[in-house]
Amino acid sequence: MTVLGLLPQLLLYISATLVSLFLCVYVYFSYSFTYWKRKGAPYIKPKFPLGNNDCFGTESFSYGLETMDWYKEAKQKGHKFIGAWNYSNPVLLVVDPDYIKSVLVKDFNHFTDRDFFHNPKHDPKNESIFVAENEEWRQLRQRLTPVFSTAKMRIMFELVNKCADPMMQLFQTNSRSGDPMDIKEVVAMFTTDVIGCVAFGLDAGSFTSEDAKFRVIGKKLFESSLKTKMHLLVGRINVKLAQFLGMRVIPESVTEFFSEVITENARFRQENNVRKIDLMQLLLDLYESSKGQDDGFSFDDFVGNVIAFFIAGFETSSTTMHNVLYELARNPDVQEKTREEINNVLKKHGGVLTYEAVQDMTYFRQVIDETLRMYPPVQNVARFCVKPYTFKDSNVTVEKGVSVVVPLVALGRDPDNYPNPERFDPDRFSPQSKESINKSVYIPFGDGPRNCIGKRFGLMQTSIGLMQVVRDYKITINSKTPMPLKLKRGVFLMETTNKLYLNVTKV
Ligand code: HEM
Repeated sequence: MTVLGLLPQLLLYISATLVSLFLCVYVYFSYSFTYWKRKGAPYIKPKFPLGNNDCFGTESFSYGLETMDWYKEAKQKGHKFIGAWNYSNPVLLVVDPDYIKSVLVKDFNHFTDRDFFHNPKHDPKNESIFVAENEEWRQLRQRLTPVFSTAKMRIMFELVNKCADPMMQLFQTNSRSGDPMDIKEVVAMFTTDVIGCVAFGLDAGSFTSEDAKFRVIGKKLFESSLKTKMHLLVGRINVKLAQFLGMRVIPESVTEFFSEVITENARFRQENNVRKIDLMQLLLDLYESSKGQDDGFSFDDFVGNVIAFFIAGFETSSTTMHNVLYELARNPDVQEKTREEINNVLKKHGGVLTYEAVQDMTYFRQVIDETLRMYPPVQNVARFCVKPYTFKDSNVTVEKGVSVVVPLVALGRDPDNYPNPERFDPDRFSPQSKESINKSVYIPFGDGPRNCIGKRFGLMQTSIGLMQVVRDYKITINSKTPMPLKLKRGVFLMETTNKLYLNVTKV
């Protein structure tokens, strides 16, 4: 028989195999979808194959805005938590503030690990404090905490302050020409330069060259190729399978670029006895001082954590700056009051922006706090249960391996937590009013032992950049911006669907 003659039979076999495979997957999902019913927990009806995701999430490392819908459903039905599914994986969304505190703080020992795909075997250079598990994480956290102390921030303040110079030059150019600014790009260039400078000891030069390597790499991180999208998708559907297939969520070219830059820079410092005051030096010192110890801070730890600081540090801070500027442009009275405070406080400090001057600004800090309430850049904090856990006054036991999600955006937009939540009102965070906010529902930096280690640094770079802009420039929304901006679905870090363009005028 000819090959052509075999074709119908071959097609039949292929079709039968595909149908059988689909049926197996379907039966597996259908069984998984009975999980919360079997556990006696309330749940949201899932749909094949997404579970309760509202899109495939191929751009996302983890859950996105869909958790707002889960949260609303749980609240409407009066539940303190609700079961949902990420594809076929059971997920528990926590709604009650006391339960949130239990997961993140009080009973942290049951929830030590972050629900975030990583692949230690095939992608060792991306192992870091962000994804490390249990004991390994504890050790890393202990070692890295001093790197972000107030004293270290004070020392790095000037370095960050200098990084704002090119941004301010661009503001000056645009205020003269009258051209609107694509503000997301501008603040991303600033935070890229800051992290490039403090974490890598290099001038990233984002403002001087259109194809500055750090900025290109930064974009690559969040604009996934088809291959990365596939890896992200499989990682969300089945972690073990993605690990087995050697998948990685950070493109190899990105890791290699960082790794080479870091290694080269570290070698230069070591060979030439050069010491700098930056994050990289602090990590390098950690590596040097623990050489020879069995479970010391290895060179891979050094590289992996510098990369993690870049990834965790630049987009979160630039998103915060973007959203502060958006709200200030929409609320001219708040903008004026903020500028007034900046000028008054700076006057007290001899006209110089110092670490102490930033700490003295109260209204400015309220503006940032209110922005982080409405727009927490990390939309959800998700932890794996590592030891079975039963919530107080409930008979539902969370099993090992189940992901427990705390929805930061939903908490910030809940009218029970904040009256009229869609209104931007920094006075909610005035020293008197903020006492009435439950501490477990305002957690833009997470909470408990595994909260954001870079909080001080993030606030410092955000404040420095914003203060310089607001002090010197009046900002308004340019008509090219479709108002109001909408939040994008299917992404882990908060993003808007459209660009924000601002007009800038020198004050
Ligand atoms: C406004 C800026 C920032 C925001 C809103 C933010 C927010 C967060 C959140 C919500 C988490 C998860 C916390 C949890 O699971 O409880 C986190 C973790 C983390 N952040 Fe930030 N972050 C910011 C800036 C930074 C910066 C500048 C760095 C480093 C230079 C950084 C490094 C990290 C690291 C390493 C972790 C993981 C900590 C661990 O697992 O022990 N972040 N951040």
